[in-house]
Amino acid sequence: FQPKLLKGKRVLLTAGPTFEPIDPVRGITNLSSGKMGYAVARAAYEAGAEVTLVSGPTALATPYGVRRISVQTAQQMHDIVMAQLTAQSASSATDIFVAVAAVADWRVANASTQKLKKNADGSAPELVFEQNPDILATVAALPKPPYCVGFAAESEKLLQYGEAKRARKNVPLLVGNIGHDTFGKDDNQLVLFDANGHTDLPRAGKQQLARQLIAAIAARLGA
Ligand code: C5P
Repeated sequence: FQPKLLKGKRVLLTAGPTFEPIDPVRGITNLSSGKMGYAVARAAYEAGAEVTLVSGPTALATPYGVRRISVQTAQQMHDIVMAQLTAQSASSATDIFVAVAAVADWRVANASTQKLKKNADGSAPELVFEQNPDILATVAALPKPPYCVGFAAESEKLLQYGEAKRARKNVPLLVGNIGHDTFGKDDNQLVLFDANGHTDLPRAGKQQLARQLIAAIAARLGA
């Protein structure tokens, strides 16, 4: 039995990797499977929320009851998230934003509209990178932000970096993944950072951890 902890709430999430094109057939991505974000979306729906999931490319099925908007690039993910947040009237505003996506920090500024060809002289193409917008920090800086939850994958000094990242992104709750080895796995181990310190969620399946995270968010919202 799952209590309807988020009944009547609107939840917006990002999940999965982004894909940054180099040319029409090549690009740069990362090893995020989307499993953690999809599990959080599913848990939010189970808890009674109206859920919109903005997802980069993944092999996962859309969770039952969840509205999914598929994107490729970080810029598209940013634009869809901002449109979702601003297109709503006050009565249908987003209550909670959970940024689980592994967003590419950079995109290829000189992406080619045509497939790159090998040069006869053996020289390689030069890629120029430019920084992508930070979706979570942008949402957290809105005049009336939803309750913002960030994720962090740190390979070391998680306790130190986790709290620093929470402060830097200016979010009330930041979820640390312990270790890089969570990508693609079905289980995970989390640390929740908020203004009062940190709480461990011991290793468990991602769906079980997602339910615990939703309960932790609901408790902090006073729901
Ligand atoms: O700074 P870092 O990438 O480690 O922060 C991770 C958190 O910020 C995650 O919640 C991720 O979804 C979010 N993020 C974002 N947009 C970016 C980079 C990260 O929303 N461009």
